Amino acid sequence: MTDKALPIDQQRKNDHVKSALAQQEIAKNSDFDEVRFVHQSLNTVDFANISLETHWAGATHALPFYINGMTGGSQQTKQYNQALAILARETGLPMASGSISAALKHPDMADTFTIIRQENPQGFVMANLGAHHSLENAQKAVDLLQADALQIHLNIPQEVVMPEGDRDYSMWAEQIAEMVDKLDVPVIVKETGFGMARETIEELMNLGVKTIDVSGRGGTNFIQIENERRDHLDFSFLADWGQSTPEALLESICLQDQVEVLASGGIQNPYDIVKAISLGAKAVGLSGKFLHVIDSQGIDAGIKLVEDWIQFIRHMLLLTGCQHITDLKHQPLVISGQLAEWAYQRGIN
Ligand code: FNR
Repeated sequence: MTDKALPIDQQRKNDHVKSALAQQEIAKNSDFDEVRFVHQSLNTVDFANISLETHWAGATHALPFYINGMTGGSQQTKQYNQALAILARETGLPMASGSISAALKHPDMADTFTIIRQENPQGFVMANLGAHHSLENAQKAVDLLQADALQIHLNIPQEVVMPEGDRDYSMWAEQIAEMVDKLDVPVIVKETGFGMARETIEELMNLGVKTIDVSGRGGTNFIQIENERRDHLDFSFLADWGQSTPEALLESICLQDQVEVLASGGIQNPYDIVKAISLGAKAVGLSGKFLHVIDSQGIDAGIKLVEDWIQFIRHMLLLTGCQHITDLKHQPLVISGQLAEWAYQRGIN
């Protein structure tokens, strides 16, 4: 039920959470099922010395996954930010806020974001903002969270279907280039569940971007979420728009030695994380899954999930013959079905 008393942007934040949680209840096919390892019967790994350490956005991270940008901007979503920040603090996961735009427009909403830093003063925290924002706003977002990095999100499909969405993208590239050039924290450009193409990644590299989260289709779907908020023009025919996360990682493969690639979108289990890293991701972000665990089972269950996943990933390295998580990238993979067809038609091998 929509609460008519709330301003539209605060109501939108609450609607997003509600719809994203509902999407987590629906089982989906995953393109990660089309990615298989080749079992080898001998390896030289010592379990005691396995390392999950990764390096991206100017820092070394003990764990290869992170809590991706989601909430803040309404009092209800402040509670999620607080719970997620506690999860980040207790497990050591890096964490991004949701778009800080809401706090720039309504300063009384700032506490819905600053709670992240309050709960986790030492952690690696990323602030998040849309690409239409000015350098000044980007600096304010970083300052608000004392952020270690800034995520800039690209979300054209969401804006197109959002009834009150932005209709002018003419300044985005210019704004990104300025932020990369002038901010003194790393700028990570991310998609929002629609995946990136090789051409987009090349354009971002030309703008100076060094770290990119290809955030693909397969999990939270913002075309569906915004379509539910419309009362005319039904865009449900666009439900499968965009590249899945494995497709987007394949798109990035020939550029991975020149740019840091992160993956997110539809990650449901530690096997997906291991496969994404094998396809070249430096680290893997999760949004909907963590939101759902926190919402349905609480913070302690979230902590237990992360601890279990760390163990599963360590065992997967043992099985695949990788002493270090970055060795996954050199594992031979077999790609089947639609994913293989995508690679073939896009000339990726
Ligand atoms: C998001 N996402 C998002 N991304 C972003 O860059 N800024 C934002 O403010 C938000 N807001 C947001 C709210 C909610 C409730 C969810 C679930 C997600 C997108 C998110 O970071 C990610 O790119 C996609 O959700 C795909 O990942 P999952 O959810 O499939 O793991």
